[in-house]
Amino acid sequence: MTLEIIGTGKCLPKAAINNQFLETVVDTSDEWISSRTGIHKRHLASKETTASMAVEAAKQAIENANINAEDIELIITATISPDYAFPSTACMVQQAVGAVNAVSMDLSAACSGFIFAINTAYAYIRAGIYKTALLIGTETLSRHIDWADRSTCVLFGDGAGAAVVKSSKRGLIGLEQGSDGQKGMVLNCRYPEVSNPLNQRVAVPGYVQMEGQEVFKFAVKKVPECIDALLEKEHMTHADISWYLLHQANIRIIQSIAKRLREPLEKFPSNLEQYGNTSAASIPILLDEVHRSGQIKKGDKLIMAGFGGGLTWGACLLEWTID
Ligand code: ACO
Repeated sequence: MTLEIIGTGKCLPKAAINNQFLETVVDTSDEWISSRTGIHKRHLASKETTASMAVEAAKQAIENANINAEDIELIITATISPDYAFPSTACMVQQAVGAVNAVSMDLSAACSGFIFAINTAYAYIRAGIYKTALLIGTETLSRHIDWADRSTCVLFGDGAGAAVVKSSKRGLIGLEQGSDGQKGMVLNCRYPEVSNPLNQRVAVPGYVQMEGQEVFKFAVKKVPECIDALLEKEHMTHADISWYLLHQANIRIIQSIAKRLREPLEKFPSNLEQYGNTSAASIPILLDEVHRSGQIKKGDKLIMAGFGGGLTWGACLLEWTID
């Protein structure tokens, strides 16, 4: 038994800012941002929250899957920007969509979060513990950005994507995932230090910090290795794969990965031009768009691959089963 994706959804904040707007915020230019990242615009939360966008994406996915919320037995929400330390975003979604029978939890694996969520649901479903799961990637990373730091503030956007999966004979074929805590600090965001009666400190908020070139090198090496290891394990080749849905961090990372895999860029759908890097939300947002536009056809094989903070990386290989 494996899992298949039976419905998807997404939610982007209403408001968006383009690169020209950012020129008024920090010392940058549309030319610098576009040529180094491929990003032109990003949506930023104002009234929306991590949970409210997750709920909207989840409702769309449930409707698209044509199931009742009561059928959901497991909700996993991948996020590194929850509104509350607790309750989890997943529990907030459970309440809002009426998934009264679901066990609900959040998962923290940065931009690999949605892939880790699929792979975790796969393990539960294969073990026969649950049959139907709601998986979400949702972020308001704009709350963790230092808007005076031009090296990071131009890269990220807010949003959410979701998928409903259920046990099936066809669908997910295989997965590969990994972590390297030794390199964790090349991409980090820390909480304020502990302050209590024994140890009084000023609570300074932490912002996203990144060694950009280290992250770039990590992504363009690790993702092709991970994809090739997965294909080898499943006795498949690049020719079997119709689509690669990669984490939408940077167009130059995607181009570089395509080149290393010797695959045409046409197999790598991308929306980062419009949304920037939405971390755990980027893959499910893209998945929803290629599904609803009819780009992915029943029987197509696709690889979804994420990479990010931790460091973490992961990929899953699926056959698309929706008509
Ligand atoms: N506008 C104008 N100039 C800038 C900006 C900006 N927004 N940001 C940095 N610069 C300047 C720097 O100050 C530096 O100036 P200097 O030479 O005078 O010191 C110059 O541009 C070059 O800076 P680098 O950091 O070396 O720029 P680089 O070519 O490495 O590009 C980038 C930066 C785009 C972040 C690149 O390293 C990259 O793509 N890294 C991948 C990381 C990534 O995508 N992270 C996303 C989050 S992680 C994830 O999702 C997995």
